[in-house]
Amino acid sequence: MTKEYKADLIVGLQWGDEGKGKIVDHMAQTHDVVCRFAGGHNAGHTIVVDGVKYALHLIPSGVLNPNAINIIGNGVVLSPENLLDKELKQFGDLQGRLFISDKAHLLLPYHAMIDQGKEKLRKKAIGTTGKGIGPAYADKIQRTGHRVGELHHPQKLAEKIMHYFEDNRVLFDAMEIEVPDQQQLLADIERYRDGLLPYITDTTKLLWELLEEGKKILLEGAQGTMLDIDHGTYPYVTSSNTVSAGACTGLGLNPKDIGRVTGIAKAYCTRVGNGPFPSEDHGRDGELLAERGHEFGTTTGRKRRCGWFDAVAARHACRLNGCDQIALMKLDVLDGFEKIKVCVAYEFEGEVIDYVPYDLENVKPVYETFEGWEKVEGIREYRELPNSAKAYIKAIEKLTRTKVGIISTSPDRADTIIV
Ligand code: GDP
Ligand code: IMO
Ligand code: MG
Repeated sequence: MTKEYKADLIVGLQWGDEGKGKIVDHMAQTHDVVCRFAGGHNAGHTIVVDGVKYALHLIPSGVLNPNAINIIGNGVVLSPENLLDKELKQFGDLQGRLFISDKAHLLLPYHAMIDQGKEKLRKKAIGTTGKGIGPAYADKIQRTGHRVGELHHPQKLAEKIMHYFEDNRVLFDAMEIEVPDQQQLLADIERYRDGLLPYITDTTKLLWELLEEGKKILLEGAQGTMLDIDHGTYPYVTSSNTVSAGACTGLGLNPKDIGRVTGIAKAYCTRVGNGPFPSEDHGRDGELLAERGHEFGTTTGRKRRCGWFDAVAARHACRLNGCDQIALMKLDVLDGFEKIKVCVAYEFEGEVIDYVPYDLENVKPVYETFEGWEKVEGIREYRELPNSAKAYIKAIEKLTRTKVGIISTSPDRADTIIV
């Protein structure tokens, strides 16, 4: 009988920035391989080890574990400039520790220009990160994109990109985006090729081999369930499948390859950019959450909107992703609140409902209130948590129908409770 090996998966349950980076880094200590399967450098995953802070965008959060291999899968849109000029500068040579799928799509400077140009033209902006994510995925779906593997033939790729500019001249003229100089374009592509070549490979084949060898594999989601292109608050979403199913298409795995799924959720809720957020708190509490949680984006520095834990959306997300457990993050940010609210249902068209409807724009939150506590910051043992914090966690388990298996009480890797 052959042994069955499965990959563990981490996925955001809210609107991103739940603290995925911290948990992936924590779990990477016991995994051999960490893989990104969707999104691009719109992601900002923060890791704090012994007080030193690292911000990751494209490189998987396993990079801080010197023994882990990191894979950027085919489902990612990859900006060579961001990777070469920013991220790899931080970590230096990662040969043998970083592998990039030849099927990942290239995100090139003009994608960011189109993204920003379109945002300006929209009556109501989505509030994208402006990194070019939507346009890069649009090109992929329209079959006008370019894949990482094409870097093997710079001359041919430069010609194709020049044709792309010709085909889209009306759009580029309207946005005042200049057609690149072909020689300069070729020089840029050659630079990307030289920098990325040591990392480019067939990552699906590699991953299958690693699974076969019995290596422990961790799949790192980016963004969050409510930002999923199909299941999120469309059109205020990102342009990829951020849910667990995206890990299959984004890496070349089949559903049977997926093992334990951990959903990451803050003990409250945040969102960057526009779009519905039923449990947003526009008053003093929202401001306190932002202040205490240092809720400023890792990628764009924008202030995050803050509010209470949305148990309806979280239950929906747990079901969608097949969560075996929740990692409840930033519990310490609730320290000192006398009362803590949780959104337990929505009021929608005159009715109280307990599911996520087609349009979250028109729902009103129904709250249940819980007792606060003084301090959980830095606690590393479940039994040391105050009773009211334990009651809050139990309530979240009941409302989401999912076990809380991990609790985080500070940004540091070590301040993590495994229940
Ligand atoms: P990600 O995108 O899901 O990886 O999350 P981000 O890194 O964008 O945002 C989470 C922020 O919360 C980061 O600044 C983390 O260092 C921080 N963080 C993670 N866990 C905790 C925690 O338990 N308590 C506190 N206070 N901060 C945390
Ligand atoms: P991590 O992985 C939070 C949001 C943007 C915007 C919408 C579309 O750090 O959790 P895009 O640039 O993707 O077209 O923007 O999605 N967004 C995120 N919000 N965390 C992220 O990533 C995000 N990535 C995209 O703010 O509302
Ligand atoms: Mg983030």
